[in-house]
Amino acid sequence: MSSAPSGSKFLRLGVNIDHVATIRNARGGRHPDPLRAAHLAVEAGADGITAHLREDRRHISDSDIARLKSELTRPLNLEMAATPEMLAIALRHVPNACCLVPERREERTTEGGLDVVRGGEPLARIVGSLRDAGIRVSLFIEADERAIEASAKVGADIVELHTGQYCERALEDNAAGIAREVERLRRAAVLADEAGLEVHAGHGLTYNTVVAVARMPQIVELNIGHFLIGEAIFGGMHSAIRHMRSLMDQARAGPHRSQAPQ
Ligand code: PXP
Repeated sequence: MSSAPSGSKFLRLGVNIDHVATIRNARGGRHPDPLRAAHLAVEAGADGITAHLREDRRHISDSDIARLKSELTRPLNLEMAATPEMLAIALRHVPNACCLVPERREERTTEGGLDVVRGGEPLARIVGSLRDAGIRVSLFIEADERAIEASAKVGADIVELHTGQYCERALEDNAAGIAREVERLRRAAVLADEAGLEVHAGHGLTYNTVVAVARMPQIVELNIGHFLIGEAIFGGMHSAIRHMRSLMDQARAGPHRSQAPQ
């Protein structure tokens, strides 16, 4: 076994707690409380908490964001659409980071990357306003060269690479598709790093798919939600997060090469 990739940085785990709010909202009321889940996630080893305030408020609410911001002991990453309403909310709460995502009301989850190439001046203005307020700005993009170049051009600090296609191929057990998507992510991570962007990744990651992504030394943060909250139903938050954390650590310490899900 060779050692960890040289220059490899610590890989942070951001736990997305949206779907605790999804369950709460199914009945109204306050239970289960996403803030309680956030505290448990931090105890179990999360390096940050991620929450997506959607325009339709289907899971996280405005008051969840206010409570997370005032009570969390770890950085808050606020995922949001690049709209004037969301910009105003972000500037009111000043999270550690904002991850700008595309949003369509009819989608079940964030289905593709942000169209940074066509985002132009309006997107650059939102990025600038957030950065002026001291908020780190991340753009959730497809693993695509043009999107990376455009992200650097609009002044983003970070790109979060959309791992959804890779995870879909893994669900289909499509070995050729998995290899193609892992290679696409790997190249994008290299390009983004060379462009001076911090590199994150997320969407759809599971115990099975996390290893190949965690092995990419340019990636310094993974944001994982749905799978972890689902696993927590069976074994609790602690066990789910600790297991994910240990897979990430092992992948980071192991040989530096892309590998299909095991
Ligand atoms: N990163 C971003 C930008 C997302 O929009 C989401 C989904 O909210 C995630 C990561 C986490 O995806 P999942 O819930 O599938 O782990």
